[in-house]
Amino acid sequence: MSERFLVTGGNRLTGEVSVGGAKNSVLKLMAAALLAEGTSTITNCPDILDVPLMAEVLRGLGCEVELVDDEVRITTPAEPKYHADFPAVTQFRASVCVLGPLVARCKRAVVALPGGDAIGSRPLDMHQSGLELLGARSEIQHGCVVADADDLHGASIRLAFPSVGATENILMAAVLAKGETVIDNAAREPDIVDLCNMLVRMGAQIEGAGSSTLTIRGVKSLRPTTHRVIGDRIVAATWGIAAAMTRGDVTVRGVNPKHLSLVLDKLRAAGSQITTEADGFRVVQASRPVAVNFATLPFPGFPTDLQPMAIGLAAVADGTSMITENVFEARFRFVEEMIRLGADARTDGHHAVVRGIAQLSSAPVWSSDIRAGAGLVLAGLVADGTTEVHDVFHIDRGYPRFVENLTELGGDIVRVPAAG
Ligand code: UD1
Repeated sequence: MSERFLVTGGNRLTGEVSVGGAKNSVLKLMAAALLAEGTSTITNCPDILDVPLMAEVLRGLGCEVELVDDEVRITTPAEPKYHADFPAVTQFRASVCVLGPLVARCKRAVVALPGGDAIGSRPLDMHQSGLELLGARSEIQHGCVVADADDLHGASIRLAFPSVGATENILMAAVLAKGETVIDNAAREPDIVDLCNMLVRMGAQIEGAGSSTLTIRGVKSLRPTTHRVIGDRIVAATWGIAAAMTRGDVTVRGVNPKHLSLVLDKLRAAGSQITTEADGFRVVQASRPVAVNFATLPFPGFPTDLQPMAIGLAAVADGTSMITENVFEARFRFVEEMIRLGADARTDGHHAVVRGIAQLSSAPVWSSDIRAGAGLVLAGLVADGTTEVHDVFHIDRGYPRFVENLTELGGDIVRVPAAG
């Protein structure tokens, strides 16, 4: 049996917690280091498995990578290798973001596709068609995206959906393409702005970061840089929602509250008192949360990564909530696990209707991905008795010091090592 958590409900969460760098940002920034020969340093890296995994991927491409505390130093050679089809690549989704940098630097790339995903299909068609407009040919061969280009040139690219991954790959190829590229309907996530900030420090010419139109004027080469990863808004919001669910009082530091404006508005609507500072926010919840509706959407909409926590909040809120998942079609699968905890929830396509009850009841439950796992733990914190959350390796991939952070806030959670 793999590691599990025992979560005993009933405690209010109170106190302060700091979040580290954003998982959704750091891996892309590490990939961006491929774009310049020399040593780039990335600071405020979170202590999660995907960071050493990405280091493995970069080493496989010929980089030297040193991980010291929360810093990663990446030394990229003059000519990186372009074959990213070794085992480390297939172990996590974000490795696909080496595609754009490799096409830009090497004019070709072979990148293995990651395996299936519990939250729904994650095709690469927009990544491929964007790169094709920049002049690269690309196809799927033997489980890999294989791309090559004689020369990359600027292009006008309109994304059918503001995909974070496609925006990143196209952006990282366009910074070294000849001429001007315009990406319309680009993703506006803080992770994209973070990546643009790093690329600009490396010498890239980008306008419009954080808006739907990115204009990139290609340059001949980029230089290495030092960059600090933005704070993890998803981890921060997880603690904020946990505070609301447990009627607690939690101050979260290390994150820009502007990255969570809509989430904090939703918590206000649920009855939380929220105060914000430059690098954090405080959530105080005095009484039972009131039901609110959520619809996941690309930024600045409500993040799909917080949908499981929204379901947890709805499960114990006073009233009925409608939750709509607009980004990943299979992301409601974990709701079956919430129902084991007594949640009164029904799903139909991309809608869930949750009628809040006063108290959930403990049960054994299984995490299917990082965020579903975190949502189940939050539900366990407000369930009667001890909830066993299985397959917590998923949670560990997104939340450094998860058990320690919750314990410091007064949550009753213990990690049970794997048997045998
Ligand atoms: C997504 C989230 C991001 C989150 C990350 C990790 C959005 C918009 N994106 O980013 O906030 O941090 O997961 O959980 O919320 N799609 C295609 N073809 C493509 C690319 C994407 O059809 O070529 C579709 C996907 O199937 C999905 C949607 O677009 O339905 C969003 O995908 P995308 O933003 O690319 O996903 P990630 O980059 O993984």
